[in-house]
Amino acid sequence: MTTDQKTAASQPTAALPIGVFDSGVGGLTVLRALKQALPHEDFLYLGDTARLPYGTKSGATVARYALQTTRVLVEQGVKLLVIACNTASSVALPGLAQAYPGLPVIGVIEPGARACCEHAPHGRIAVIATRGTVRGAAYQTAILRLRPQATIATRPTQLFVAMAEEGWVDGPEVEAVAERYLTPLMAEFPGGKPDCLVLGCTHFPVLAPAIRKVLPEGVCLVDSAETTAECVVKELAERGLQKPAGAPGDVLAGGKGEGRVRFFATDDPERFASVGEIFLGQPLSPGEVTLIDL
Ligand code: DGL
Repeated sequence: MTTDQKTAASQPTAALPIGVFDSGVGGLTVLRALKQALPHEDFLYLGDTARLPYGTKSGATVARYALQTTRVLVEQGVKLLVIACNTASSVALPGLAQAYPGLPVIGVIEPGARACCEHAPHGRIAVIATRGTVRGAAYQTAILRLRPQATIATRPTQLFVAMAEEGWVDGPEVEAVAERYLTPLMAEFPGGKPDCLVLGCTHFPVLAPAIRKVLPEGVCLVDSAETTAECVVKELAERGLQKPAGAPGDVLAGGKGEGRVRFFATDDPERFASVGEIFLGQPLSPGEVTLIDL
């Protein structure tokens, strides 16, 4: 890392973009919420598609991957980092804070925990996530910090990741898998239903309509994308790091209007673009995606 890059990491400035990373395309659901909340900010998004899924790997491996993806973003120059991956958020935050003490880092678990507590009048909370996130119990820890009396049940629903990656977001197959995962989870709560179900994985929001079909009535679905975006808005304001609209010296947008997004992937830009569109909710062409090695 050059001296300038170290400076960018230790002294973020308002003109720099926000760095966002995920194991793949799922984090684009978080990027979508960030773009809505901060339309004139610039973003660098890195999807580590070559090593997806993170959710089946050990915590030590995911923490190491997170350090590698962050190094690339820091070398490009970012003012704040969003870990748009639940699995990485659950294991990588301490290592990143130690490696980059000057860089504000926001994960998706704390915002998700806050959102679900707001939607749980009886404190009954179900969480679905990857195997790695469930194993680390990060959601339980974060929820119990806010709501010590909460009743929480969690379930790894790893197949949902593969189905979302495949573009299978609705139809009888998806509903059958959802039913098999969710029926026993619902049964763990008094009256057969929690107050809310946390979609504790970046890939799950695109499956929300199919999931909703198999849930008992009145169970609220919570995902952390919007609350994460709110956290980023607040953090930028507190640190005086918002990019003023139309400010001169914008790094990517030439100082005018809408912010820009640059996409990086560690494998196959074509597939990143075609699957990524589902998550981003807008067209994405392979030409917009730069292939990188970590
Ligand atoms: N991005 C991951 C998460 O939110 C899901 C995909 C994976 O397993 O890598 O946990």
